[in-house]
Amino acid sequence: MAWTEPATAPRPRADADRPTSARDQILTGAGAARYRSAVHDAVNRIAHRFTEVKQPFTGVSHDEMRRRHEKIDLDRPLEDLAAALSELDEVYLDDAVWFHDPKYLAHLNCPVVLPAVVGEAFNAAVNTSVDTWDQSAGATVIEQRLVDWACGLVGFGEESDGVFTSGGTLSNLQALFIAREEAQAKWGADSLPRLRIIASEVGHFSVQKAARLLGLGRESVVAVPVDGEQHMDLAALRRALDDAEAAGDHVAAVVATAGTTDYGSVDRLRRIAEITDGRTAWLHVDAAYGCGLLVSPTRRHLLDGIELADSVTVDFHKSYFQPVSSSAVLVKQGGKLGHTTYYADYLNPRTSPEPNLVDKSLQTTRRFDAIKLWLTLRAMGPEQIGVLFDQVCDLADDVWKAVDAHPDFETVTGPSELSTVLFRLKGDDELQRRARRALAEGGTGLVAATVHEGRQVLKLTLLNPLTTVADVMEVLDGLAAHNTEGPNQ
Ligand SMILES: Cc1ncc(COP(=O)(O)O)c(C=O)c1O
Repeated sequence: MAWTEPATAPRPRADADRPTSARDQILTGAGAARYRSAVHDAVNRIAHRFTEVKQPFTGVSHDEMRRRHEKIDLDRPLEDLAAALSELDEVYLDDAVWFHDPKYLAHLNCPVVLPAVVGEAFNAAVNTSVDTWDQSAGATVIEQRLVDWACGLVGFGEESDGVFTSGGTLSNLQALFIAREEAQAKWGADSLPRLRIIASEVGHFSVQKAARLLGLGRESVVAVPVDGEQHMDLAALRRALDDAEAAGDHVAAVVATAGTTDYGSVDRLRRIAEITDGRTAWLHVDAAYGCGLLVSPTRRHLLDGIELADSVTVDFHKSYFQPVSSSAVLVKQGGKLGHTTYYADYLNPRTSPEPNLVDKSLQTTRRFDAIKLWLTLRAMGPEQIGVLFDQVCDLADDVWKAVDAHPDFETVTGPSELSTVLFRLKGDDELQRRARRALAEGGTGLVAATVHEGRQVLKLTLLNPLTTVADVMEVLDGLAAHNTEGPNQ
């Protein structure tokens, strides 16, 4: 989409608004007028986009994007911020991928709610870092209140604690770091080569990454097969535990998934907790996607038993309509977060009278992401978030039925417990790839792809409550139109 002038064009700036030196660019009270004007200009441009965007993507190619960069010399700045914003249109905004568009159906990206977007404005300008009390004050308490609130949703008790992170990958890493420390405390420092992590074969790859980073061997993650509903197979889990013990290995962690990335399947958490009880150093639940169920008015029961976990990953930027990034790792015995603690004299000495969140974080300088969820809860409340999450799950049920009944498509699994739909165009693997690519090149809709039982499949991840079945079927019609050798051509 080419850039057109906003309906309410930013007003031309008075000369007094213009920064005259590098020092003027620093945001202070003296620059408040310039700040207002610059942010007004930027917000106006963005708002205008939201009113104009008619499809999730333009289909711009990587080659074309690279070409547009050829004339940009990063050592030679433009005349001013307005010029930089105009240039940004060309290298970014004209061809952005819009998650709020009802035909964006691809990955785990949600549209964002206004209170959270407003929270980001505070993050950028106030620039709080929540590592220590003396850099954050009230922000530390806000984050802590939200962590306590989330632990309460899980059903953890008084001793629980947690910390915000940049995403599910980091939350899982931190949980598995604690697990490794606990395992080595139990089986000795030299047990490292024998430590195993058991996860389902459809669990998230961040578990494998974490294992590598934590010094566990390449073979340390044991993938347990799933049943027909993509839940970790419980008999196979028992066998994996038996096999590990028989081999003289130690199970540092079992990772259950509440909302698998591809299938939206929620492992049977209570059963897993019962089976693993006493047989693993740590039980982690990756609820990066499924955490929306914690506030769901109708589906909370799917998380039955989550409170039996030692730790839980929750990604508010997937299921609570929060801008990236917003995630947390929650730990039942909060004191175990102390495995992360390092007291630095310059920053968070042991003697600090106030809490320093860096004591329990892998990061040091850290964004005040909690502000977004805070404003969301205070302006909307958790029920509304839960209702929105329920709506996308309901939508996925309806879409599954429509796809299943469609002559050009076949569903490849049953309906999801959350909001994904896996399907194929009737035809071979190459057709799925070709149709998806052609759709993306047109940009009228975006779908994802994955592999199920060795076959290339297409995937919808529905996280937009404003998307309708008709929107989805329009996108699918677009896909079918690329089936030039298909059954209906
Ligand atoms: C189940 C699950 N866990 C963890 C992650 C990683 O989360 P993030 O992308 O926020 O690092 C994902 C991402 O899709 C996920 O689906």
